[in-house]
Amino acid sequence: MKIAVAKGDGIGPEIMDAVLSVFNAAKVSLEYEFVDMGKWVFDKGFSNGMTPEAQQSIETLGILFKGPMETPKGKGVKSVNVTARKTWNTYANKRVFQTLSGVDTVFSKAGIPIDITIVRENIEDTYGGVEHMLTRDVALSRRFITRPGSLQVIRYAFEMAKKKGARRITCGHKANIMKITDGLFLECFYEVAKEYPELKADDVIVDDLCMKLVTRPDTFDVVVLTNLQGDIVSDLCAGLVGGLGFAPSANIGDHICIFEAVHGTAPDIAGKNIANPTALLLSGLSLLQHIGLYDTASMIENALLYTLESGVHTGDFGDKTKPSLNTTEFAQAIIGNFGKKPANNPKPGSTDQPTSCTVFNLEENPMLESAAGASEKIVGVDMFIESNIQPEELAQKCLRHAGVKFKLVNISNRGTQVWPTGSKFTNLVNQYNARFESIDTTPLNQQDVIGLYVSLSGDFKICSLELLNKVGEKSGYSLAQGQ
Ligand code: NAI
Repeated sequence: MKIAVAKGDGIGPEIMDAVLSVFNAAKVSLEYEFVDMGKWVFDKGFSNGMTPEAQQSIETLGILFKGPMETPKGKGVKSVNVTARKTWNTYANKRVFQTLSGVDTVFSKAGIPIDITIVRENIEDTYGGVEHMLTRDVALSRRFITRPGSLQVIRYAFEMAKKKGARRITCGHKANIMKITDGLFLECFYEVAKEYPELKADDVIVDDLCMKLVTRPDTFDVVVLTNLQGDIVSDLCAGLVGGLGFAPSANIGDHICIFEAVHGTAPDIAGKNIANPTALLLSGLSLLQHIGLYDTASMIENALLYTLESGVHTGDFGDKTKPSLNTTEFAQAIIGNFGKKPANNPKPGSTDQPTSCTVFNLEENPMLESAAGASEKIVGVDMFIESNIQPEELAQKCLRHAGVKFKLVNISNRGTQVWPTGSKFTNLVNQYNARFESIDTTPLNQQDVIGLYVSLSGDFKICSLELLNKVGEKSGYSLAQGQ
């Protein structure tokens, strides 16, 4: 079997060489096609950080094993890491955090074992990167949480949890504040949970989750989260097991999967051959398991765990009174320990199962189809208006434009209601949201909204607008604070 390999930038080539040396010594039955991705490819003028040949190879081979890559700053280009995850629809980011014997942490010293798998949604959320300056003072980021996207990653998490024999699967969210977006994710979680009655499914608000992960990490097993929250929580979990040097990651898609370490290019230590290759090696082991090479993966993992347990370490962790090994020596130490098993938690052979790699047919993209449900109707519109006048004066002007179809319901500023009621203590910025609703229960159409837009634009700059939709009897929009 052949896979694509991109060594990456900074410490990438050093740690990738170390990992491949371990694979070669273990006679891993894989061929490698080295592809051009990363900062130097941006520098050559390829705006997405990869050559067309690299893209072609990865799309043909279906698996990319990559080192960390740097995004050039100030050139307006997007991260090649995020581009790769999104272009190839690797919708689930699986990160496993386990206590590693020999890697001292407050929890290992207290005898509290950690084995947490974070599944982070990998494509949507604010990572869509759809951002705008609405006024010179106001920036907006759009956060996309979709039903098909949420169901896809949550199904993956449940399926993986079932195969792993997990005792608990938890949804981390902030649905108490982001009722529409995180509310949808949470709703999808419990919808899928019904298909897995054998798993204990529950949910925890993300701030509480962080506190509980730090105080009782042993009570968690599989945790599924939206993209940004998952990113933050998984770095927190990396800290629980000894830091970024021990955090592997698998980006799972239906057709293409990407395996990489969580950490970046570590420019401060690049070129010195002192980086810790463990996270990339663990990512590589998850790749081997993914393609079914369980025995080789557990043989190498046992050698790694034995090495760590015997106190062998690179400079970033371990007993500072013992000399550290460099990257190459650390890899050699692992190779020297092939066939050995750690005293604590040896790997019996993986319980993980390969994810099926099905060819994805874009012409029949099932996510385009929405299940038939309750009817949708437009019941109003939020007009985001640039203005530096006071709320009462703004309201009087808006009322003049409401016409016969709309009524002005309220005005808010940064989500807090400032008209018809509000507080003089609310600070205002130069963008208001004037909410107009249908004057009676008659549904509105887009022409009505455009008519209102045209009328208001005689007095104001409209920065943006959002339709207020009702799906069945359910409102598809949030209320302003204080409304
Ligand atoms: P970083 O993860 O590269 O470094 C943070 C700290 O951890 C540094 O002190 C570094 O020396 C240390 N560190 C990281 N990996 C290590 C390892 N294997 N062994 C020993 N020490 C290690 O994060 P930073 O500095 O924020 O980002 C540097 C660059 O990496 C940026 O250009 C960023 O965009 C990129 N990056 C790429 C990622 C990827 O390719 N998936 C992920 C994160 C960042």
